[in-house]
Amino acid sequence: MRMRKKRHLDERLINSQPYLIDIDKTLDPREDVQITAYVDLVEVFGNDKPIILEIGCGKGKFAVDFAKANPDYNIIGVEREANVVVDACKKAMDEGIDNLKFMVCGAQYLARYIKPNTVHAIYLNFSCPFPKNTYAVHRLTHPRFLKIYRQLLVEGAKIYQKTDNMKLFEFSIESFSASDYLIENVTLDLHNSKYVEGNIMTEYETRFVKMNKPIYRLEASPK
Ligand SMILES: C[S@@+](CC[C@H](N)C(=O)[O-])C[C@H]1O[C@@H](n2cnc3c(N)ncnc32)[C@H](O)[C@@H]1O
Repeated sequence: MRMRKKRHLDERLINSQPYLIDIDKTLDPREDVQITAYVDLVEVFGNDKPIILEIGCGKGKFAVDFAKANPDYNIIGVEREANVVVDACKKAMDEGIDNLKFMVCGAQYLARYIKPNTVHAIYLNFSCPFPKNTYAVHRLTHPRFLKIYRQLLVEGAKIYQKTDNMKLFEFSIESFSASDYLIENVTLDLHNSKYVEGNIMTEYETRFVKMNKPIYRLEASPK
């Protein structure tokens, strides 16, 4: 059964190739090893439009809708799980979108593949909360990730975070603050705030809004 599942995934990954950014996966897996294999994003997209990342893009609803609404940007959906990325690629392919690609990559390795000072915004949508404190290091707003994002972002660029999880939101605020980021435009109820205008819903958000859960939202930029 497991083999069939794997073969099915392999086939779907092959079909997804036009939407997948090829990265060198043979690099040393130790995160503290400083090593780079930068992707030529101008070659990947065929143009030099500014780059925006969604990290932890899941099945890609936000990335696809965001790319459609922002044709002047190139969007990269970053996701560590190949089995959800194939769904995201299928959505992009069905819609024929040309300013969106996906990268199967853990956020901890992004600085190996994306050149410093080249990213114009980062979206963190409903990141896994990792409720146990012993796993806090895996939260995508842990200082170890904020250090990487700071390196990637162009001057003045922002991180946009949305979550339904108050504990993760509190953790993130402390983490942004401790990592010398400026926090702005905070709401504890996105869908009853002025920030809802132009908001693009994610898969998880659609589910939480149906359950009447408030959505927390902030913007943060490196000082
Ligand atoms: C809760 S889901 C949210 C998916 C989507 N953003 C949404 O709002 O519908 C979080 C996603 O982040 C991905 N993720 C978690 N840690 C990651 C990491 N270190 N690097 C890349 N993706 C990660 C998970 O695999 C998962 O697909």
